[in-house]
Amino acid sequence: MKTYLVTGAAGFIGANFVKYLLSKYDDIRIVVLDALTYAGNLGTLASDIDQERCIFVKGDICNRTLTDVLFTEHRFDYVVNFAAESHVDRSIENPQLFLQTNVLGTQNLLDTARRAWVTGRDEQGYPTWLKGVRFHQVSTDEVYGSLGATGYFTEQTPLCPHSPYSASKASADLIVMAYRDTYHMPVSITRCSNNYGPYHFPEKLIPLIIKNILEGKTLPVYGDGSNVRDWLYVTDHCKAIDLVVRHGRDGEIYNVGGHNERTNLQIVRLTIQTVRRLMEAHSEYRKVLRHKEYHQDGLLNLDWLNDSLITFVKDRLGHDQRYAIDPSKITNELGWTPETSFDNGIVRTVEWYLTHQSWVDEVTSGDYQHYYERMYADR
Ligand code: NAD
Ligand code: DAU
Repeated sequence: MKTYLVTGAAGFIGANFVKYLLSKYDDIRIVVLDALTYAGNLGTLASDIDQERCIFVKGDICNRTLTDVLFTEHRFDYVVNFAAESHVDRSIENPQLFLQTNVLGTQNLLDTARRAWVTGRDEQGYPTWLKGVRFHQVSTDEVYGSLGATGYFTEQTPLCPHSPYSASKASADLIVMAYRDTYHMPVSITRCSNNYGPYHFPEKLIPLIIKNILEGKTLPVYGDGSNVRDWLYVTDHCKAIDLVVRHGRDGEIYNVGGHNERTNLQIVRLTIQTVRRLMEAHSEYRKVLRHKEYHQDGLLNLDWLNDSLITFVKDRLGHDQRYAIDPSKITNELGWTPETSFDNGIVRTVEWYLTHQSWVDEVTSGDYQHYYERMYADR
């Protein structure tokens, strides 16, 4: 029986990870720690999970009293740290929050785990550790900065973050590796490219485009839309993290990516085509269109649903041009390869959103509208 502390699992990837673990292993227990920020939603986690094997604690990863209590109450084998402020645009507005959660929160978790997991000292004075424990940090390809037209990020690529978000994630990685070097703490890090799939918060590109289509809004593309991201279906990321947590080497970093580079303009066009194709094939999907004028002709006319919805808007400050991951290390060492092709993954994702509008309504019922107006008004 393994016991996990999974932080940030009321968010996009963490929730998918918990669901994946519970479906794969019978003999595990999971404690989720999540502060339920605007990006966290209990409904995301609660749907289809076995509440006997997974308990939820609302709280901040920076709260030392709380993390100490959790480590006293549970004998964790693994900590998997997803909790973070994750949106680059928000980090440009409020960098301090990103440093607080992403850097100090990670350091607080590391320190709590260190106190709980150390068993003694070796002859050189280094701490000795409970057998089989592991602190896993979920990091991002953005720590490497930006690529030109060619080349890939490997684990040896120097860190060169540009946004407050990526700088905070790089700092967290450095503090994780400092605990490895200084205390011989058993740690691992994965650095993954852009994820997409169910439960992705609609401030991020793909779900935002789907939401705007359904609401009859224009589709904002930053700059000229030529920036490239390397897209990976979220379950493939979850599988990679599971492999690294259980079988990765201590102190190692693993890049995770799908060899699926697309410009933002390609992504937006493909999303438009996918929504349209699905709506043409299934009349029930057309019922989720929110703007009245398309309801008037029996929901049949989808001529408006084309690339003319795209608007090029002011670019993101410090916008990284291209990310592309070389995942050979995790493939060669652990046998991981992406299993979901982008063609399948995008259809699955769009279908999920068309059939889960109540989830979208729930997660965007708070500050989302103000956020959208603030972020896009002067673009
Ligand atoms: P998300 O924004 O959807 O979810 C983040 C979760 O963390 C939310 O549930 C939120 O409530 C929680 N949280 C935030 N601050 C917290 C705090 N102080 N204490 C406890 N919980 C807190 O993010 P995501 O897209 O699921 O990303 C998860 C992790 O994966 C992040 O660390 C991110 O940097 C990393 N990552 C994301 C991607 C991606 O494409 N989304 C790619 C690579 C790495
Ligand atoms: O690469 C991994 C990273 O991917 C993760 O570490 C981050 O947590 C995650 O948010 C994501 O960051 P990006 O900035 O790449 O994702 P986002 O969906 O915000 O934007 C994807 C691209 O689309 C980016 O080049 C900016 C552009 N974009 C985004 C939005 C929201 C637009 O053109 N228009 C938009 O409205």
